[in-house]
Amino acid sequence: MPLIKLQCRNFRNYPELSVEFPLNGAFLSGPNGSGKTNLLEAVHMLCTARSQRGASKLEMIAEDADTASLEGEFVAGSGAEIPTSYFFSFDRSGNSMLKINDRKIGSFSEWFGSRPVVSFATSDTELVYGSPEARRRFLDILISLVDKEYLAALIDYRKNLSLRNKLLRTSGDELLCDIYEENMAASGSVIVEKRVATIALLGSEGGLNYREIGTADEDLSLQYEPGFKADFDGQNGWKNVFSKVLTERRKSDRELGFSSCGPHRDDLQLSIGSRAAKGYASQGQCRSIALSLKLSAIRCLEAKGAENIIILFDDAVSELDPERTARVFSLIENKGQVFIASPTGEEGGRDLVHFDAATLRAQ
Ligand SMILES: Nc1ncnc2c1ncn2[C@@H]1O[C@H](COP(=O)(O)OP(=O)(O)OP(=O)(O)O)[C@@H](O)[C@H]1O
Ligand SMILES: [Mg+2]
Repeated sequence: MPLIKLQCRNFRNYPELSVEFPLNGAFLSGPNGSGKTNLLEAVHMLCTARSQRGASKLEMIAEDADTASLEGEFVAGSGAEIPTSYFFSFDRSGNSMLKINDRKIGSFSEWFGSRPVVSFATSDTELVYGSPEARRRFLDILISLVDKEYLAALIDYRKNLSLRNKLLRTSGDELLCDIYEENMAASGSVIVEKRVATIALLGSEGGLNYREIGTADEDLSLQYEPGFKADFDGQNGWKNVFSKVLTERRKSDRELGFSSCGPHRDDLQLSIGSRAAKGYASQGQCRSIALSLKLSAIRCLEAKGAENIIILFDDAVSELDPERTARVFSLIENKGQVFIASPTGEEGGRDLVHFDAATLRAQ
């Protein structure tokens, strides 16, 4: 769903901003620190209510303000229809407000889904080098964008996990713990089933992309590393085993003070040839792996019926040679609305309208 108008108030280094974007996207230029990434972040927040660089809401509120707000007008594709307005505000006390067409909405599940987005950034190599959390975050945002059942299961699982952890550290209410564990098993089974399917799709597509833009002849492969190992031959089977194991581990988890197994400890193993990429891949290979994963994320969204995907490119091809850059851009050709941010003014041959971040801030 293309974004045709963006308004920011007290968001990062934009005290006040109103800008209209073309349907095919924009090229954001400007020197280091001028606010290019901040603009991409505003777009990502409007699509997912999350920062693409994992920043907290507090970090995004302008230094001298208490409340930040973002408003975006999105259209279905042709640009001819009446736009839908998405408004998001958040303050330093932790309050936030979401509105669609001026109607307050109560849940994130209503917010997610209609505005698929994929963000590419130099920091994406964190997917290879970083902690499992970075890879789970990538999967969670990707699946939630097109699957409301997954998002609901994720919210439910996190809530019950946190309640169980609290209970493990405080009281010994066994009955209450039974309930939390049953809920964790039910939502956990939904999460695992959908992660397994998504990783399989990412793996087949990611491998193809890596061969296209990779730096070596070796293949990229992806493997799910469950935080709780049990055969997944059906949601119910897995659910029953997980529920039983949670009960069995209750005593030892109480000693640890946290829940030691479950989808919250899942990981995604990335391999080049037969070796784990984390300790083996070169910097260039890491960059290519991260790009391949993000390109496959676009394919996953498309496979789930997403159209007009918003693609954010934050300097993500700066380390690639011109030939590979051209290949990456050809792979995202006609996929949706593309925003490219770069301090160098190189937009990779795309015909995009240029916006200068420093000029936008001075408006
Ligand atoms: N909460 C905030 N309030 C005010 N200013 C902020 C806030 N957070 C970040 N900034 C400012 O935003 C600027 C960074 O913006 P941004 O990351 O968008 O730069 P950029 O144009 O992407 O730069 P680069 O080319 O180096 O990537 C910094 O100058 C920083 O001080
Ligand atoms: Mg930047």
